[in-house]
Amino acid sequence: MKGLCNSTSIIPITLCFIFLFIYHFEDVFAAPPTTRHFLCRPEQRDALLQFKNEFEIGEPNPICMVYRIEPHRKTESWANNSDCCSWTGITCNAKSGEVVELDLRCSFLHGRFHSNSSLQNLSNLIALRLSGNNFSGRIPSSIGNLFHLTSLDLSYNQFSGQIPSWIGNLTQLTYLDLEGNQFSGQIPDSIGNLSHLTSLDFWGNNLVGEIPSSFGNLNQLTSLDVGINMLSGSFPIVLLNLTGLSDLDISNNQFSGALPPNITSLSNLRNFVANGNAFTGTIPSSLFTIPSLTYIYLRGNQFNGTLEFGNISSSPSNLEELHIGHNNFKGPIPRSISRFVNLSSLGLSHFDTQGRPIDFSIFSPLKSLEVLYLSYLNTTTTIDLNDILSYSKSLSYLDLSGNHVSTTNKSSVSYPPSQEIFSLSLSSCGIIEFPELLRTQHGMTQLDISNNKIEGQVPAWLWLLPKLEYVNLSNNTFIGFQRSKKKQGLSSFRKPSMRHLLGSNNKFKGKIPSFICDLQSLNTLDLSENNLNGSIPLCMGNLKSNLSDLNLRQNNLSGGLPEQIFESLRSLDIGHNQLVGKLPRSLNRFSTLEVLNVESNRINDTFPFWLGSLQKLQVLVLRSNAFHGPIHQASFPQLRIIDISHNHFAGTLPSEYFVRWSAMSSLGTDEGRSNDNYMGDKLGYYHDSMVLMNKGVELELVRILQIYTTIDFSGNKFEGKIPKSIGLLKELHVLNLSNNAFTGRIPSSMANLTALESLDVSQNKLSGEIPQELGKLSFLAYMNFSHNQLVGLVPGGNQFRTQPCSSFEDNLALFGPSLYNDCIDIRTPTLEQNEEDAEVISWIAAGIGFIPGIVYGLTISYILDSYKPQWFMNPFGRNNRRRRSTIAH
Ligand SMILES: *[C@@H]1O[C@H](CO)[C@@H](O)[C@H](O)[C@H]1NC(C)=O
Ligand SMILES: *[C@@H]1O[C@H](CO)[C@@H](O)[C@H](O)[C@H]1NC(C)=O
Ligand SMILES: *[C@@H]1O[C@H](CO)[C@@H](O)[C@H](O)[C@H]1NC(C)=O
Ligand SMILES: *[C@@H]1O[C@H](CO)[C@@H](O)[C@H](O)[C@H]1NC(C)=O
Ligand SMILES: *[C@@H]1O[C@H](CO)[C@@H](O)[C@H](O)[C@H]1NC(C)=O
Ligand SMILES: *[C@@H]1O[C@H](CO)[C@@H](O)[C@H](O)[C@H]1NC(C)=O
Ligand SMILES: *[C@@H]1O[C@H](CO)[C@@H](O)[C@H](O)[C@H]1NC(C)=O
Ligand SMILES: *[C@@H]1O[C@H](CO)[C@@H](O)[C@H](O)[C@H]1NC(C)=O
Ligand SMILES: *[C@@H]1O[C@H](CO)[C@@H](O)[C@H](O)[C@H]1NC(C)=O
Repeated sequence: MKGLCNSTSIIPITLCFIFLFIYHFEDVFAAPPTTRHFLCRPEQRDALLQFKNEFEIGEPNPICMVYRIEPHRKTESWANNSDCCSWTGITCNAKSGEVVELDLRCSFLHGRFHSNSSLQNLSNLIALRLSGNNFSGRIPSSIGNLFHLTSLDLSYNQFSGQIPSWIGNLTQLTYLDLEGNQFSGQIPDSIGNLSHLTSLDFWGNNLVGEIPSSFGNLNQLTSLDVGINMLSGSFPIVLLNLTGLSDLDISNNQFSGALPPNITSLSNLRNFVANGNAFTGTIPSSLFTIPSLTYIYLRGNQFNGTLEFGNISSSPSNLEELHIGHNNFKGPIPRSISRFVNLSSLGLSHFDTQGRPIDFSIFSPLKSLEVLYLSYLNTTTTIDLNDILSYSKSLSYLDLSGNHVSTTNKSSVSYPPSQEIFSLSLSSCGIIEFPELLRTQHGMTQLDISNNKIEGQVPAWLWLLPKLEYVNLSNNTFIGFQRSKKKQGLSSFRKPSMRHLLGSNNKFKGKIPSFICDLQSLNTLDLSENNLNGSIPLCMGNLKSNLSDLNLRQNNLSGGLPEQIFESLRSLDIGHNQLVGKLPRSLNRFSTLEVLNVESNRINDTFPFWLGSLQKLQVLVLRSNAFHGPIHQASFPQLRIIDISHNHFAGTLPSEYFVRWSAMSSLGTDEGRSNDNYMGDKLGYYHDSMVLMNKGVELELVRILQIYTTIDFSGNKFEGKIPKSIGLLKELHVLNLSNNAFTGRIPSSMANLTALESLDVSQNKLSGEIPQELGKLSFLAYMNFSHNQLVGLVPGGNQFRTQPCSSFEDNLALFGPSLYNDCIDIRTPTLEQNEEDAEVISWIAAGIGFIPGIVYGLTISYILDSYKPQWFMNPFGRNNRRRRSTIAH
């Protein structure tokens, strides 16, 4: 057969296939099936069929797309009437017929393992690969009996619990991969028994504690990855025994202290990845003498002092990637950096040169640079963009933000420049003119030129750069968009690439330019804080299939809201304009809407109870409009922030009003919410912001925490009792019912609001006593009961005792030791505070730990300090997960 089909002659190829087919056909049917001898052992076949039935076929795991493993429902083809050794994913020993390998990577399998899973009957397994499914629960102990295993890959599932110590029984293992699960607890000592291991991967779990000292026995190890866990302690010096180690990733843990100078024991180290820890001290200069070192990632630690590269040998260094930005280095950038002539990627951002001049020509010998991050160097030197671009022909990612940059064109520079910049960040560079040299950068995808002093028009040629996806123009003094002279321009592109256009905080005036309607891939449009007028153009309906975030806040827009646009919106903010009319009823088809903010317009409508059908709506702000009427039996399952204050709403609220507001009664963790996540688009290009009243002052939320919850019904004409069901909203942080006509008692169910920080029921007609139970609300830092008809004993407790008199003034007869001694007659009304004059402070909610400046900075670098696309596509969606790009699998 072989000779026949070895295709040195071309003609018979088809014939050959036909022949082969017949040949096999005869082979199969030569003997009757009943007497057919299968290689597979019956008990192993049955174990596999049983295994198949232990799980369901579900959705594919997204990681498979990221790693380009074609998902495949392998077990579907497994059937009892064929030889199991021929099933997809199974490899048998050709002689004995024992199943030796089970490869079910990316096979759509879902479900929990039984502790006595039939896997244990496959006792001859040498390799078990279950990566990229959706297995959950603990690792079944039956795997502990597969003593012949040399390779165990359980990565990218939902396994949880501790890593079992019996794993140390699998002493033949050379490859163990548990990355991308939810393992917690400490790494078991018994791992040290696996002395044949060459590769060990625990990346992306929740492991704590230190690396066990038994790791010193793993003397065959060449690759160790424990990145993205919560491991702590000082640098694990036990690893210094592993002299064969070539890839070491301990990034994004909580390691601290100094790196030991004898790290040079790792004389074969190629990749050293330790970013995102808390290492301090200097980087030992000996590190740079390890000749094999190719990639060093130490970004985002607290290394301090001066940086020294020591005695780098005269032979060319192998170093290709060096990232030591976002530390606390002070002093000069060592000139010897120019000896790393093979560098292709260099990050020195936030290196504090303490106002020294920098000779940027030290970078000019680095002819292979593709990535150069030099933001915030604290230097007096003005960087000439032309010069930097001339150093390396391959430079494609450049970040010079926070330095003084000159972009003026020099006649000596020839155009077009030879390289193609992919991503350029020039934020806060004191630039006063739009850099003309960008005109020829046809490969540019990302441009950040925010926080400069550029005046005039945004040039029309910018929109002609064919690959541009992200442009940040915010915080300049642009007044308009230049119109292209010929009617070529945008319409000549079938589908412009632009996805994220950020132009807030400029002086754009006139109407919203119609060319925006041609940017059909647009996801994010932020033109807030400008002087735009006219109405929202109907042609924006062209964008409706992609536009996800639209912010037109703080302009002078007028007219009504168009009915038929934007059905894919996630966030719509049109606050602080002069819009009139009603909310378009088509909004109830915006099933993706999470944020709707129409505050401070002149919208005259009834309460949009019909928005209750939007399953994702989390933020609803109708503040300061002409809304009126009752607010009905609304139910908002996901709503966490509702501000309908300063309208003309009226009527009573039934006592069960809040029963179905489930997001405020328990936040749940299903959507990966946590107290350090903010609302915004998934990629971090856009964050929602808003202003609300908290603790009696206006707060600007530059970012909205996903766990923040508030109800503001103040300044309306509500009457009747405060609904008892308010007590169900256990996650509520801020409640403002002031300035209405509520009557009756304050419901004692409010004592259930254990998360409450701010409570304002002032200026109503409430009577009776303040419920004593409120004294137990330990987070309640601000409260206001003034201007009501309350009587009786003011509750005790720390929070009540520290309130000023004004919180209780103008009531009928409040008394008690909680009131300051000097609150002599709290019934006397004082001058009413004008809410409009309330101080606008930036949001520093100590209680919630929110630091906008830092977060903003991180976000920008999050976008631009990233050049490996996997980072964006991270299927786990946690922040700051820089997947090590350099250690390939
Ligand atoms: C497969 O078929 C054999 C008979 O051919 C039977 O004995 C065995 O129980 C079957 N196994 C399963 C798991 O159905
Ligand atoms: C692992 O080995 C130890 C000692 O050899 C034994 O006691 C234990 O039962 C084994 N565990 C498993 C799960 O096989
Ligand atoms: C590390 O190696 C040294 C000798 O090279 C040995 O004495 C020591 O026991 C090893 N440490 C561990 C934890 O194995
Ligand atoms: C490395 O230095 C540390 C102290 O910094 C010491 O404890 C350790 O034993 C040394 N290890 C080796 C292998 O030299
Ligand atoms: C570096 O930081 C450590 C710990 O914060 C401190 O003890 C040390 O003095 C600092 N060194 C320099 C040179 O600033
Ligand atoms: C910049 O350098 C000056 C010294 O010239 C120093 O006082 C200042 O703290 C540095 N700024 C930053 C942000 O590190
Ligand atoms: C706007 O940019 C200037 C620098 O030009 C900066 O000082 C200021 O903080 C920026 N404002 C905002 C709101 O980012
Ligand atoms: C709202 O519109 C109604 C007519 O539909 C009108 O009577 C009312 O005065 C308007 N309210 C405000 C505040 O403009
Ligand atoms: C207060 O919370 C408890 C459970 O924690 C619940 O049973 C009770 O109904 C709540 N009370 C009110 C009035 O909401």
